[in-house]
Amino acid sequence: MPRIFSGIQPSGELHIGNWLGAVQNWVNLQHSYETLICVVDLHAITGKYDHESLAQRTREMAVGLLAAGIDPEHAILFVQSHVPEHAELQWLLNTVTPLGELERMTQFKDKAQRFESVPAGLLNYPILMAADILLYRADLVPVGEDQIQHLELTREIARKWNAEFGRGGAFFPEPQPILTEAKRITGLDGQAKMSKSLGNTIGLLDTPDEIWQKLRPAKTDPARVTRRDPGNPEVCNIYHLHKYFSPPETVALVAENCRGAKWGCLDCKRVLADNMIAALKPIRERAFELQEQPDRLEEILGDGALTARRMAGETMREVRLRMGLLAAPSAMSSRAQRGLDS
Ligand code: TRP
Repeated sequence: MPRIFSGIQPSGELHIGNWLGAVQNWVNLQHSYETLICVVDLHAITGKYDHESLAQRTREMAVGLLAAGIDPEHAILFVQSHVPEHAELQWLLNTVTPLGELERMTQFKDKAQRFESVPAGLLNYPILMAADILLYRADLVPVGEDQIQHLELTREIARKWNAEFGRGGAFFPEPQPILTEAKRITGLDGQAKMSKSLGNTIGLLDTPDEIWQKLRPAKTDPARVTRRDPGNPEVCNIYHLHKYFSPPETVALVAENCRGAKWGCLDCKRVLADNMIAALKPIRERAFELQEQPDRLEEILGDGALTARRMAGETMREVRLRMGLLAAPSAMSSRAQRGLDS
């Protein structure tokens, strides 16, 4: 079975943008692939961040993923920092990664502008992402379009490492992307991609009232000033959201009633809100259930990390050997077996 790996930052909120753009896809893929899903907390600390809430955000992201349908029977769900091999492989890959490539990454160039003094971690972010993927020798990586460039660099790093240490073979497979159909979900401002930091999202766990309070003022076709103005659904983000949450008949009706000025925007939003609330209801219920069982979450993340570490350990043994590092003295592993290793 081909193996897939994907990661998501513990932004604190899983919103309908990540859900439609990524998580739903993972939930489907977990049945056909060996699937690893990682909450990438080490990636979330490459800029200024709130360390006091990081652990809680990490937990919440895991709860959100499980509530959305990531099933521990089918997928290995874990937290990146629980598997120290990610950071170790990152360092080793660091030695074969061209600096120029890192400096060329568009995400780096964008983000670097926000710093007076750019942290090296921001530059090296893509190497850690390469390490995530290559550590499990994953074949496929379901990602959004904005990560394609990082994935290309991952392939280059794999090629460079293989050329140097692969002993004529491809120890690291070159991972290919799986692009999600819902490539980009626009935020409620009708402008930017939906993103927690822009405050233009609807949370996957929002209450029915919160959903309505956010949808009500959301941007629609600017040409519709009063409800008698005919609108153009194609330029209206609410219409696009209907396509994800409403049945096809409703979508057709929305388009017709918008063009014919038969519905006001608020009418249209009310229908969307009802359908969205219904779609998210089971997710919210599962999340509440999990929030009441912190031991269950611990257990799932513990099992996930253990399985991931086992896989990562196999890769690292081979990587250390091929890169010529002295094998750790065997006394170390016998001590570890006696449980002295934490
Ligand atoms: N950089 C990705 C993002 O911001 C998250 C990520 C980290 C990732 N490691 C990964 C995605 C490995 C896919 C595979 O969305």
